[in-house]
Amino acid sequence: MKKVDERRIEDLLSQLTLEEKINMIHGVAIFHSGGVPRLGIPPLKMSDGPMGVRKEFAYDSWINVGTTDDLVSYLPSNSALASTWSRDLAYKTGKVLGAEARGRGKDVILAPGINIKRSPLCGRNFEYMSEDPRLVEELVVPLVKGIQENDVAACVKHLAANNQETDRLEVDTYVDQRSLREIYLPGFKAAIDKGESHTIMGAYNRLYGEFCSQSRYLLTELLRDEWGYDGAVISDWGAVHDTKEAAESGLDIEMSVTANFDDYYMANPLLEAVRNGEIKEEYIDKKIRNILRTMLRLNMLGEDRKNRVPGTYNAPHHREAIQECAEESIILLKNENNRLPLQKDKLKTLAIIGQNGERVHAGGGGSAEIKALYEISPLLGMKMELGGNVEVKYAKGYYVPTKEEKELNWQQDSLEKQTITKEEAELKAEKQEKETRARQEELLQEAVALARDTEEVILVVGLDHEYDVEGGDRKDMKLPYGQDRLIKEVLAVNPSAIVVVVAGSPIEMGSWADATSAIVWCYYAGMEGGRALAKVLLGKVNPSGKLAETFPKTHMDCPAHKLGEFGNYGKITYNEGVYVGYRYYDSYDIDVEFPFGHGLSYTTFKYSDLKVEVDQTNKEDVDVRIQVTIENTGSVYGAEVVQVYVSDKEASVDRPIHELKGFEKVYLKPGEKQNVNITLNKDSFSFYDVESKRFVVEPGEFEIQLGSSSRDIRLVETIIL
Ligand code: BGC
Repeated sequence: MKKVDERRIEDLLSQLTLEEKINMIHGVAIFHSGGVPRLGIPPLKMSDGPMGVRKEFAYDSWINVGTTDDLVSYLPSNSALASTWSRDLAYKTGKVLGAEARGRGKDVILAPGINIKRSPLCGRNFEYMSEDPRLVEELVVPLVKGIQENDVAACVKHLAANNQETDRLEVDTYVDQRSLREIYLPGFKAAIDKGESHTIMGAYNRLYGEFCSQSRYLLTELLRDEWGYDGAVISDWGAVHDTKEAAESGLDIEMSVTANFDDYYMANPLLEAVRNGEIKEEYIDKKIRNILRTMLRLNMLGEDRKNRVPGTYNAPHHREAIQECAEESIILLKNENNRLPLQKDKLKTLAIIGQNGERVHAGGGGSAEIKALYEISPLLGMKMELGGNVEVKYAKGYYVPTKEEKELNWQQDSLEKQTITKEEAELKAEKQEKETRARQEELLQEAVALARDTEEVILVVGLDHEYDVEGGDRKDMKLPYGQDRLIKEVLAVNPSAIVVVVAGSPIEMGSWADATSAIVWCYYAGMEGGRALAKVLLGKVNPSGKLAETFPKTHMDCPAHKLGEFGNYGKITYNEGVYVGYRYYDSYDIDVEFPFGHGLSYTTFKYSDLKVEVDQTNKEDVDVRIQVTIENTGSVYGAEVVQVYVSDKEASVDRPIHELKGFEKVYLKPGEKQNVNITLNKDSFSFYDVESKRFVVEPGEFEIQLGSSSRDIRLVETIIL
């Protein structure tokens, strides 16, 4: 972490009264802590979140300020970013996010969210990156660096094991130490050690019985003592539950959701406890040091302020980075007989079917919501790219119930808030359901008729932020709003229809995946998402996105559901251990819809000349230098993500069949060849040994596998360590 002049911290600390210190360690507004104007200490101003800087709220409530000066660039979600497998794009989009946060006058941007995608059903998966810790490590570091170059702090969240939304405020997670260390923590450790993240957010949930945001184990023993973290730890909003525990843990700032700021656990109750000797003032001093150190790192104090980066938002070059990221995030899942790209010259009419064609998503999802300057939908993007000579027809295809309709169903459940009798509510709901079904039928028939009459049909289906949402998990992976039926009926009349899925987490595709020749996947890809998608469909951009998570056939195949517990209230045990995602599917040979790392291109790549050199001259570490030649053997420019998996042939502990340890994205012209070099170190061969409480490498045979996905291994070489 960046060194600062600690004397300046001690000098300020010595001048602070206890009351002033207390004011600095809790929210005095929904999104900022208290400052000390007398000493020139400002508050820490914070804002969500991962996809851009959130709209402005009143200081003491969740009411929108409502002006138009908080419109911002809408960035691709972390799931989209992770699909690019590009460190460079992580850095570039990080720079955009940081610049926009500073431009909006913020000190801390509450991002990125990097929790592991343990189950496809977690409502916040769209905000997270991957099921694989190495991929998270590699992307979070440049992302945090990019953000922080703008003198704004990243706030990597949510430490730790915050992998479900059900009961998220209370749920108690039991994950064994090895899995915690190998799967759930590496992203956070890398964000601190290599990314130097100035702040970290504690999670809502409990771990081993303790609330994460005030956990002695997590915040003191692990984060402070073991990892030596000296930045600021911020609680999730309302995640603190006890004054003494919070005060004596490694937490620095308590934030919450209500306006009774003086009553927060680390406000007046703490002041009292220090005054009457129950809690030592030295605990408070530690927090102040961490906060002041963070402020110094951000050029927030004294004369430093003159040098602080000003930032800006909605700059045209921000949109360029966003567009590049969106383009590289799109994943071509299936493309039988080169069905895609569409031949623009031959197109006269085109039908887009499905409401995700016209819907925009920026404003939903929970704290990740964005008041976007604009958002290009797939339909708009297609029209923009095609111009006036192609007639683009559109049919909604499926019906999305309105807010009132949902309200009514909800009212039926909640007798408390009911203004009509139960019987009346039931009757009304029944009528509503009938109407909904009728509307659905009408839209479906209209879409089928259009599909029958139009040669080129693109179905744009998927999820929205009713499903990909903070505070709730999905019940299953099924497509909502009768979309499975829509897809099947459209394919029945027009078998060449293409399926585009816009969603933040995997869906079941089994009932129609075989019947369609092309499937394109688009996560919530930001303001330029629709244009990027259109460019991919029309071949102006060759898709290069790769899945950063396995798409299982159903959630019941997922180890979190099959072996472990998920979505329960109370206590959750991660019985699947380290067998998360492909570590499980590949080890146990489970049939999946699309494997981890998968993504097609309009060109082809040849892997050859694998050379692996082991250098063990350094006693402390090992260098395994891998070189492979990648050739673009097709006729268009394209990019390939070369993936390196390591398989430990014999170990004293049970290890997954292989684990991703390295990757590189290469961009090649047709016919072009490039040597790709990847070096693996000790940490790519080790596992966490619970006895000695450290990562160990056991000597023996390891297989180095190079491939285009976890299930498309092209070259293999065995080494001995
Ligand atoms: C979320 C955090 C977010 C915070 C502030 C919480 O509900 O879990 O991710 O940063 O609210 O909006």
